[in-house]
Amino acid sequence: MRIIIVKDYNELSKKAANIVASQMILKPNSVLGFATGSTPTGTYKELVRIYNEGNISFREIVTFNLDEYYGLDRANVQSYYYYMNENLFSKVDIDYANVHIPDGRAIDIEAECEDYEAGIKKAGGIDLQLLGIGRNGHIGFNEPDVKFEARTHLVELDEDTIKANSRFFSSEEEVPKTAISMGIKTIMHSRRIVLLASGEEKAEIIYSMVKGKITPELPASVLQLHPDVVVILDEKAGAIISKHCNCMTQQ
Ligand code: F6R
Repeated sequence: MRIIIVKDYNELSKKAANIVASQMILKPNSVLGFATGSTPTGTYKELVRIYNEGNISFREIVTFNLDEYYGLDRANVQSYYYYMNENLFSKVDIDYANVHIPDGRAIDIEAECEDYEAGIKKAGGIDLQLLGIGRNGHIGFNEPDVKFEARTHLVELDEDTIKANSRFFSSEEEVPKTAISMGIKTIMHSRRIVLLASGEEKAEIIYSMVKGKITPELPASVLQLHPDVVVILDEKAGAIISKHCNCMTQQ
């Protein structure tokens, strides 16, 4: 696991976007795994900037998102489909036929999850997966005590996740209680992983993810076993881990 600590959120976003952009330049038909939430919005903004400068194209890029709330359709402003469209897809030359986000309105959930997995396999697997991390250590919506061998599946959201994500809704009651998420096994099969964390509320969980025991109680700890993970932190998220490892610090 390579840990890079940068000064602030701006630098984190630039660093992450540069890694994604270089992947796209090296392999224009890359399969990219995308995350949502607050953390990667700056990265998407930077990617749009790099795109507008004419340095990257999404024409041949294939995407798979980590998760979607169950019960929300694409047009819902809280859906992750809407988020991706707002933050990235509508601003670049992506072919929507290559965009994959679990269907939050699927009636046959099992079939939806199987199709999602089959789609990833057919695309040749994920070249680079972008991740955020929940305060409880979740990646995607794989909450504590998830099975490491899980593939895409329906998950029940943790109380902590519902609380944390209620900031995007008008009340906590409105936050969906379930979601469809790529499983840990799916994430672990990605060739490269870039995990981003910003702010002091992530400092403790980042320390445990890197230095703690590998356990389903902290889903992100499984990343210690992946051969190609880059963790990009701003100074606040890196405040504890920086005292315990040889992190690369970039100003
Ligand atoms: C969302 C996702 C989640 C978030 C995590 C952190 O697609 O995969 O695991 O990355 O909940 O969210 P933020 O970035 O809002 O702190």
